[in-house]
Amino acid sequence: PVIFVPRDSAALAVGADRVARAIARELSARGLNARIVRNGSRGMHWLETLVEVRTAHGRVAYGPVTEKDVPGLFEAGFLDGGEHPLFHGETKEIPFLKSQTRLTFARVGVTDPLSLEDYRHYKGLRGLQNAVAMEPADIVAQVTESGLRGRGGAGFPTGIKWNTVLKAQADRKYIVCNADEGDSGTFADRMIMEGDPFVLIEGMAIAGIATGATKGYIYTRSEYPHAIAIMSEAIEIARREGILGASVLGSKHAFDMEVRVGAGAYVCGEETSLLNSLEGKRGVVRAKPPLPALQGLFGRPTVVNNVLSLASVPVIMDRGAAFYRDFGVGRSRGTMPIQLAGNIRHGGLYETAFGVTLGTLVNDIGGGTANGRPVRAVQVGGPLGAYFPPALFDTPFDYEAFAAQDGLIGHAGVVVFDDTVDMLKQARFAMEFCAVESCGKCTPCRIGAVRGVETLDKIAGGERSDEQVDLLKDLCDTMKAGSLCALGGFTPYPVLSALTHFPQDFTPRPMAEAAE
Ligand code: NAI
Ligand code: SF4
Repeated sequence: PVIFVPRDSAALAVGADRVARAIARELSARGLNARIVRNGSRGMHWLETLVEVRTAHGRVAYGPVTEKDVPGLFEAGFLDGGEHPLFHGETKEIPFLKSQTRLTFARVGVTDPLSLEDYRHYKGLRGLQNAVAMEPADIVAQVTESGLRGRGGAGFPTGIKWNTVLKAQADRKYIVCNADEGDSGTFADRMIMEGDPFVLIEGMAIAGIATGATKGYIYTRSEYPHAIAIMSEAIEIARREGILGASVLGSKHAFDMEVRVGAGAYVCGEETSLLNSLEGKRGVVRAKPPLPALQGLFGRPTVVNNVLSLASVPVIMDRGAAFYRDFGVGRSRGTMPIQLAGNIRHGGLYETAFGVTLGTLVNDIGGGTANGRPVRAVQVGGPLGAYFPPALFDTPFDYEAFAAQDGLIGHAGVVVFDDTVDMLKQARFAMEFCAVESCGKCTPCRIGAVRGVETLDKIAGGERSDEQVDLLKDLCDTMKAGSLCALGGFTPYPVLSALTHFPQDFTPRPMAEAAE
């Protein structure tokens, strides 16, 4: 039998290594023979550590398993899929997984992330194989036709970005993968890097061939040590196996890549400050234009794409543009790996076609709050995303539908709050976050965010409240219109949504409580 114990950070955080060691000890004590595979996570966080066994009746799951459960699992005959209180039956039949459409995450949690054999077995490298036999313009056309839009947050059409880089004339071009996943409640980029690193390598190599770029960088955060280690090892393997290097899969195309680690500034997730950081400079935002697509890394044409955008390309190049764009609604095509977090019963990674409503995600799939209290607010799209009340739960997950409600999908992080949340404090937190993380280049953000905190404190302190609320709205308008990048420009979303949907919270209270 084969036993699977995840090596994903989410599982390691709750003791997966100890569980794996306990299983190995028990196997040898009982004189049993079984292989332990350290897979990625299936993305069902409440079940971690999720131990799976490949049996004659398929792959079955037990979870959440702790070290002390291991002897009992052996007693129950778990190597043959024996009954146990932690038994969940066949993994793929667990409702949270069964109702998903996993295209980008097809292999995550299923395979050994560093086994190229597994990768090939589960349809890996087919997209790249197709790409090396195509003209670059045809690859770009296929990605454009798929309807894929930037999964980092802005939703810009990936094919159009690639086309700009393809058409640009230069001695060198670059592919930069933005893996500086900084949004609250998001972990999809990390799960790809830890659970299926080859899919990102494949996506980047396809991007390189499509645009004429020969070098790629994955820019990630120092807070992701496991992702850095797994990604780096996968790149070494890909080089050894001829997937990267002077001749990609034996073709005339050269492409190589490496991992670079940032020092942990939120603003380095913004593409131009990321490029500055990659060049060894301070992570300060550059004015656009020029677009990175024309003058990016070291002044050369550069594709800057999020992990999820690049990791979605292999399936598009394998199954075709029509297959991918068949999923979704309106101008939001394909699937989105949605991350359910915060106070939620069933948190984790849920990949599904665009169009699912926010209420379905939070109440039906997520099972409501973890503590059973009523849901009061949901923040979608990271710290710069709007707070939605349950009255907006019929909003479909779709870029345009969210924008119509003054919200954003962003990187698809969904953070749930119960009825004890104080929305004035949340608004204050947004302004404070912006003040702390501001790169300082432009005035509306650098000074506006500090004034925003002060104004919210005045409202909490009861100082001419209505006047201060008007001032806050005015300040938000200025930040929206006058900031150079999304950090200053989007901070008004959480602030104004809190003010619009939860006005009753913007009332005087003791100052100490407001600043808590
Ligand atoms: P943007 O709208 O300025 O640009 C989107 C992308 O399209 C950029 O890469 C830009 O260079 C490119 N682009 C625009 N016109 C182009 C053209 N004609 N040809 C080629 N490329 C073109 O948005 P920005 O500032 O890049 O991103 C803002 C978003 O980032 C927000 O929506 C927010 O949700 C998200 N975000 C994500 C975070 C994360 O951790 N993933 C963290 C913070 C914000
Ligand atoms: Fe820097 Fe803030 Fe201006 Fe962005 S909005 S360029 S983070 S000061």
